[in-house]
Amino acid sequence: MKRRGLIAGNWKMNSGLVEAAQELTGSILAGLSEREGKKLLCEVLVCPPFTVLSSVNQKIGGSSVKLGAQNMAIETSGAYTGEVSGLMLRNVGCHYVILGHSERRQYYGETDEIVAKKTASAYRDGLTPIVCVGETLAEREAGTTWAVVSRQINAVLPSLPQEAAKQQQLVIAYEPVWAIGTGKVATPEQAAEVHTSIRKLLVSKLGDEVASKIRLLYGGSMNAANAAVLLQQEDIDGGLIGGAALKAKDFLTIIDSYPSA
Ligand code: PGA
Repeated sequence: MKRRGLIAGNWKMNSGLVEAAQELTGSILAGLSEREGKKLLCEVLVCPPFTVLSSVNQKIGGSSVKLGAQNMAIETSGAYTGEVSGLMLRNVGCHYVILGHSERRQYYGETDEIVAKKTASAYRDGLTPIVCVGETLAEREAGTTWAVVSRQINAVLPSLPQEAAKQQQLVIAYEPVWAIGTGKVATPEQAAEVHTSIRKLLVSKLGDEVASKIRLLYGGSMNAANAAVLLQQEDIDGGLIGGAALKAKDFLTIIDSYPSA
């Protein structure tokens, strides 16, 4: 059976004022309700900044749109000034959490080890982790794309719980760093090549049954114009979308681009 797709909006530190977040969420919900007759082929997720999670959750209400955060603490509670735990995220309605985004690796020193610990914490706190991996331009040019991506994935796999059902809840987002926010999207071939290798790696480490249910997202300048061709690739099960997720119309077009077969 085909994996259910996932189209996720990573708002980053944007649309973070209550009114703006409400407006964007409202427009997405309005667009989705216009499509009500058609069964949605993919799951839809929004990941706003921490401070508006609660109000976006209220707006989402009982709709099918899911809520996610963009980061979380390793610990559950305690003397960790400035941190937000997975337990707190669950409490305001989150089901997902983005981990190891390249901006966190680059600007906040998140190492593979930290991302692995956060992945284990996400499962502990009842959240589905979306683990981001991807090479920089220099790494691609040096021919080390797969060395980097496989190292980043191998680092988190030991954090998966024993239960196969939980392992299948892992989501991996392949986001070439050179494509993030640059308008330079990976070609469908470039993306598909890495996605196929990731699937093979997962099969070898976790077995066919688990690996075939793990969703692999592409991220990096995905937009309304290029989404369809990327989403048609066999091992691309959805997208992690930054800039284009801030415009409801573009985000809805990407959702509509998810292929039916
Ligand atoms: P972008 O960001 O779509 O703006 O390139 C994607 C991401 O960083 O998740």
